[in-house]
Amino acid sequence: MNINDVRTKYLEYYKERGHVIVPSASLVPQNDPTTLFTGSGMQPILPYLLGEPHPQGARIVDSQKSFRAEDIDEVGDNRHTTFFEMLGNWSFGDYFKSEQLPWIFAFLTDVIGLNASKLYVTVFMGDEKNALPRDTESVEIWKRLFREKGIDAADVEIGSEADGYTKGMQDGRIFYYDAKKNWWSRAGTPEKMPAGEPGGPDSEIFYDFGTEHNPAFGAECHPNCDCGRFMEICNSVFMQYLKQKDGSFALLPKQNVDFGGGLERIAAASNGDPDVFRTDVFSDIILLLEQFSNKDYNDAANRRSFRIVADHMRAATMMLGDGVRPSNTERGYILRRLIRRSAQHSAKLGFGDGQKEDSMLVRSAIIIIEKYKHAYPEIGTEQAYEEITDEIWKEEVQFARTLAQGMKEFEKIASADISGDDAYMLFTTYGFPFEMTQEIAHERGLRVDEPAFRALMEKHSDLSRAGAEQKFKGGLADTSEKTTRLHTAHHLLLRALQQVLGPTVKQRGSNITQERLRIDFSYGQKMTAEERTQVENIVNAKIREKLPVIRSTLPKDQAEKLGAEHEFGAKYPDMVSVYSVGPVSASQDDPRFAEAFSIEFCGGPHVTNTAELAGTFKITKEEAVASGIRRIKAVID
Ligand code: ALA
Repeated sequence: MNINDVRTKYLEYYKERGHVIVPSASLVPQNDPTTLFTGSGMQPILPYLLGEPHPQGARIVDSQKSFRAEDIDEVGDNRHTTFFEMLGNWSFGDYFKSEQLPWIFAFLTDVIGLNASKLYVTVFMGDEKNALPRDTESVEIWKRLFREKGIDAADVEIGSEADGYTKGMQDGRIFYYDAKKNWWSRAGTPEKMPAGEPGGPDSEIFYDFGTEHNPAFGAECHPNCDCGRFMEICNSVFMQYLKQKDGSFALLPKQNVDFGGGLERIAAASNGDPDVFRTDVFSDIILLLEQFSNKDYNDAANRRSFRIVADHMRAATMMLGDGVRPSNTERGYILRRLIRRSAQHSAKLGFGDGQKEDSMLVRSAIIIIEKYKHAYPEIGTEQAYEEITDEIWKEEVQFARTLAQGMKEFEKIASADISGDDAYMLFTTYGFPFEMTQEIAHERGLRVDEPAFRALMEKHSDLSRAGAEQKFKGGLADTSEKTTRLHTAHHLLLRALQQVLGPTVKQRGSNITQERLRIDFSYGQKMTAEERTQVENIVNAKIREKLPVIRSTLPKDQAEKLGAEHEFGAKYPDMVSVYSVGPVSASQDDPRFAEAFSIEFCGGPHVTNTAELAGTFKITKEEAVASGIRRIKAVID
């Protein structure tokens, strides 16, 4: 089955079961400063899992564009991709386990046609420390479902992943694992969840490709073993708990289902081939590369390069479609890295000089556009086509220039292991990517002093932040109290900047940690000391005025009419979440809504009243980051 078939069948199947199909949110999170990219289907859905009514009702289904930067270095094996589509169906306090599990099982077996005897499932074994019960209910449902397919499904105990390697399959079909494996929240295990974070037990389905176990991974095989025999294809999360301030768990007001299915992986299972790069979306690119390079994908020496180009060009195309442009910071830096890494591997396959029409990167992007334009119309317009291919070509040309210069310098220093200083010089003076220094050094058996390089980056430049995607791992939102206070301060600051510097000031980027906030905004010159003080005074006055901070959900055009701020280039769904600060008890029907001091498209979280900022707002730094873009860092003392 191809990707488009699986997606369409899934959406239709859940529509027949009372779900409303909603479009994918943008890869650029809706004004959510805690994560660079949307990394799962659940991220844009969070408010509704916490209890806010969804405008489309209690059952929704979608296929969400997702990107995980932390997987960039994993790409090259048969299953890791950076961009993926996560199929999602949600119940907001509507159906629960006894509908979810039978539905998804019937979808996989009866609609997609997977053989039930190749499916294995895992369930949550319970967590005594946190008084979280064992999921025997799911086990009973699974037993019945397999029985209906003539399979006698035994439930067996595993425990931790490590236990799995000694205990093995035990002739089981249903496997109990611990919270590391069968508990899901954005933050991970119950211990790692901050107060206010929702989570719950989950049940995963694995497909057995029947390959032989590779003992390099552990003595015995089990569903969570990484040897390649089993592949996780989907996960039903029973989102029913909320972490409390005292560390305990309370039930959420509603018992929700958060289902996530790997579209490409389900397609791979339907083809009975564990290599996701043989599904249609990638195989067309691979075919193109094979034809023009005269190299064979089956040749292990080239396979990694084929996979990297195919994966990265798909991700880059989708990012460009959502308004991201190559740059040296944050999202733009990741995009730049994807394109440049593809260029590097395309060169490895033997592609080089030529015109835009000859570029394998551009041609790969065109394949992606054709494949995805019906599901994601944002990449299907003529303008999108021009912009996407132009940006890729521009970046490729610029990179070729950089590379030629950088390689000359590299040769000068490559007679011995490479010091942090040299790697730093290559990067800052010649724009030679650190990853490339590492890769070429590795090929030549040289070592690179990475810690020294990182230390220099940290010391000299904010750029290091863009490279340190670890900070944004798994789209993990830091929803701590400190970060939340600074997030609200960020809204006050943007408005104050507009009052002092003029309405042309627009947000161009943001990043908030527990220690400080950072905003990038459009403005042509350095702020004077007086302007800085004025801005600080306005923000501090708003803190003292104890203004309410209110969240509303309203149609996008209504929010735009109200003048709600949004980040340039970001795309928003039809219904948006908006935060306003003051006046007292403004709501979307309240005529005073438009008089709010600040109003922004935003997914939260925020404090409920500016009084909670409890301190003095201070700008600690104001500087240029690019032509016409300034950056402010600020704290609450
Ligand atoms: N939210 C769950 C996941 O991302 C379904 O795996």
